[in-house]
Amino acid sequence: MPGHTRCNERIIFELGCSGRRGCIVPKVEKEIQRAVGDAKTLLPEKLRRKGLPRLPELSEVEVVRHYVRLSKMNYGVDSGFYPLGSCTMKYNPKIDEALARLPSVTWTHPYQDEGMVQGILEVMHRLSKWLAEITGTYEVSLQPAAGAHGEFLGTLIMQACHRLNDELEKRTELVVPDSAHGTNPASGTMGGFNVVVVPSDEDGCVDLDALEAAVSERTAGLMLTNPNTLGIFEKNVEGIAEIIHSAGGLLYYDGANLNAILGKSRPGDMGFDIVHMNLHKTFGTPHGGGGPGAGPIGVSEELEKFLPVPRVTFDGERYHLDYDRPHSIRKIRAFYGNVGVLLKAFAYILSLGAEGLEEVAEVSVLNANYLMKKLENIRGFELPFARGRPRKHEFVISAKKLYKETGVRALDVSKRILDYGIHAPTTYFPLIIDEALMIEPTESFEKEELDRFAKVLERISNEAYSTPNVVLQAPKNTMVTRLDEVKASHPKTIALSWKMYLEKSEQQRD
Ligand SMILES: Cc1ncc(COP(=O)(O)O)c(C=O)c1O
Repeated sequence: MPGHTRCNERIIFELGCSGRRGCIVPKVEKEIQRAVGDAKTLLPEKLRRKGLPRLPELSEVEVVRHYVRLSKMNYGVDSGFYPLGSCTMKYNPKIDEALARLPSVTWTHPYQDEGMVQGILEVMHRLSKWLAEITGTYEVSLQPAAGAHGEFLGTLIMQACHRLNDELEKRTELVVPDSAHGTNPASGTMGGFNVVVVPSDEDGCVDLDALEAAVSERTAGLMLTNPNTLGIFEKNVEGIAEIIHSAGGLLYYDGANLNAILGKSRPGDMGFDIVHMNLHKTFGTPHGGGGPGAGPIGVSEELEKFLPVPRVTFDGERYHLDYDRPHSIRKIRAFYGNVGVLLKAFAYILSLGAEGLEEVAEVSVLNANYLMKKLENIRGFELPFARGRPRKHEFVISAKKLYKETGVRALDVSKRILDYGIHAPTTYFPLIIDEALMIEPTESFEKEELDRFAKVLERISNEAYSTPNVVLQAPKNTMVTRLDEVKASHPKTIALSWKMYLEKSEQQRD
C-alpha cells in the first residue's frame, strides 16, 4: 500500500523477555514509608492480587519501536483513497486537531465554575447557533456523542412531545423507509416504538403510496435518511413531510449525510422537526476509528423545551449553564458533550465559512457522480435504481452480474481492492441491494485518485473474467491475508485478547 509498511509485527506479549524493564521505579524513601505505612495493608485482602499480573516485559526502546512499526501499518485518510460509503472519510484539517489539543482545552474540567470556562461556553453557544443556521432548526443540543445517540435522543423527544399532548399511548409506531441507515430502526426500537418499514420505489425514493398506507393515528413519527443510503435525495421530501404531519406525527431527519447538502438545502426548511448531524463525518473529525464523536440534534421552536439540560445560554454579557427547563428530557450524556469534537467542528466551520461549506457539498457530489459514471460502465457492475439520475455524495453499485458470470462476489472485489493499496468500499450495505458496494469519495480526493480507483476496479473485473482465483484468494499483499470469517467471529474461536487466545489455544490442544 502507498506509504504503508508491510511487516509481520508480533503482538506485544510475544516481544521482550522476562525481567526486562522500561524504567526502574526507585525504592520508596524511608520517610514516605513511615508516613504512609505498608501499602499492602491499605488494600482490603479480597482486593489484593494472588499473583503478579501477566504483563509484557520490554525495554522502553522496544515499546517505542513496536508502536512506531504498528503506526506505519495503519491506513487512513491521510495515507490514501478511502471510499468507505456512509462514513464520509474525508480529510480532517490538522489545524482543528491542534486547537482541540491546546492545554487550555485539555486542562479544562467539566466541574469548573461557569465563570472560569467562559471561553469554551462561548464556543459551544456559537457552534450551536451555527449548526441551527446550517440545518434550518431553532435550537441545537450538542450533548449526544454519536449519530445513533442523536437518533435515540430524537425518539425520546418524540415521546416527550406526544406524552405532553396525551397521545403517547396511541402513538406507538415509527415509520422508517427501507433505504434508511441501519441505526434508524435500531434507535426507534430502543426508544420504545414499533418500527414500520416502507419500501422504496424504482427511483430509490420512498414509495408514497406505501407511506400513505403505513401511516395512521398510531404514527408517532418518521425517521428519514436524506440523502438516503443509495445517495439519492428524496424527490418527494415535501410530500412525505405533508403525509406525516397531517397524521399528527413528527418528522426526524437523519442528517448524517449533511456533507452532500451543506449550504444547499436545510432539513428545517423541508419541514423537519428534529435533525441530527454527525460532526464526526461532516465537520473535521474522522468517523470510525474508535475515537469520540458528536451527534448534535437541532429541533423546531415547539420542541425546544424538551432538549437535554444544561442548555448553554448567553445573557448579553456572560454564558451560563441553564438547568431550569421543566419539560427537558433531562440528560442524555454526562456533562455537555464531547467538547474536543465540538471545538474541532467550530474551527472547521470558522475556517471554511459559508462559501467553503457550500463548496464541500459541490465537490463531494461532483466527485461521487464522476466516479459513478466511470464505474457503472465496467463489466460486471451495475447501478441499481434510478439509472441516469445523478446521486449526491455517494452511490451504490451492485456486483450481482459479476457474481453470476464469474463466481466473484462483492466481498472478493473488496478484498482484492486491498491488494492495490486502497481501502475497500462499504460492502453488502444497504441491504436492499444484492452484492452492494457503497462508495463515497468525498471532496478530499483529486481526480487522479478517482481515476486510479476506477482503473483498479476495471483490472479486478478483467481478473474476475480471466483468472477469477486471483480475486477469490485475495488479499495477498496485506499483512493479514484472507481470514476465516466464521472462525473470526464465532464465540468458540474468537479471541478478543491475548489471554483469551492462549486459553482457547490450550482448549483446542486438549
Ligand atoms: C446516514 C447515517 N445515519 C446514522 C449514522 C450513525 O452515526 P454514528 O455511527 O455516529 O452512530 C451514520 C453513520 O455513518 C450514517 O451514515
